[in-house]
Amino acid sequence: MSKPQNGEPGSPAGVPTADDPEVMFQVPGPTVSFSRLHYSVMESNGLCHKRGPEKHILKDVSGIMRPGMNAIMGPTGSGKTSLLDVIAGRKDPAGLKLGQVLVDGKMVDSDLRLMSAYVVQVRECVVYLF
Ligand SMILES: Nc1ncnc2c1ncn2[C@@H]1O[C@H](COP(=O)(O)OP(=O)(O)O)[C@@H](O)[C@H]1O
Ligand SMILES: [Mg+2]
Repeated sequence: MSKPQNGEPGSPAGVPTADDPEVMFQVPGPTVSFSRLHYSVMESNGLCHKRGPEKHILKDVSGIMRPGMNAIMGPTGSGKTSLLDVIAGRKDPAGLKLGQVLVDGKMVDSDLRLMSAYVVQVRECVVYLF
């Protein structure tokens, strides 16, 4: 017979049990959400002071990151790093054409830089372990 679950007979009403997966994976922290992000850069055409065409890097990207482990997956060049940079306010704001980033439902701007950090990808790091 399985143990009583939250709200089931034998479990005090409203008190989650320790083996409830929702409790086991609950991690305190903010929820970051982003909606309709459009980010682009002006490509250089190789000539001094000449700007090439606008390159659209993020096109209408929305999502939510709840406290705990989150993953952004995609092939190389799909925009994972650009997305993290935009969320963290580490990209030129002029390139962010549309969209917003919310922390716990509140709009944030580049202040997020002051309270967030992430480690950039370094493919060679394994080499330095030996
Ligand atoms: N400053 C930039 N100028 C031109 N293209 C860029 C710039 N930054 C990123 N890109 C392009 O945007 C795309 C996404 O890059 P990136 O975010 O690094 O992808 P990922 O991290 O998924 O490999 C790539 O095609 C990359 O060449
Ligand atoms: Mg990357």
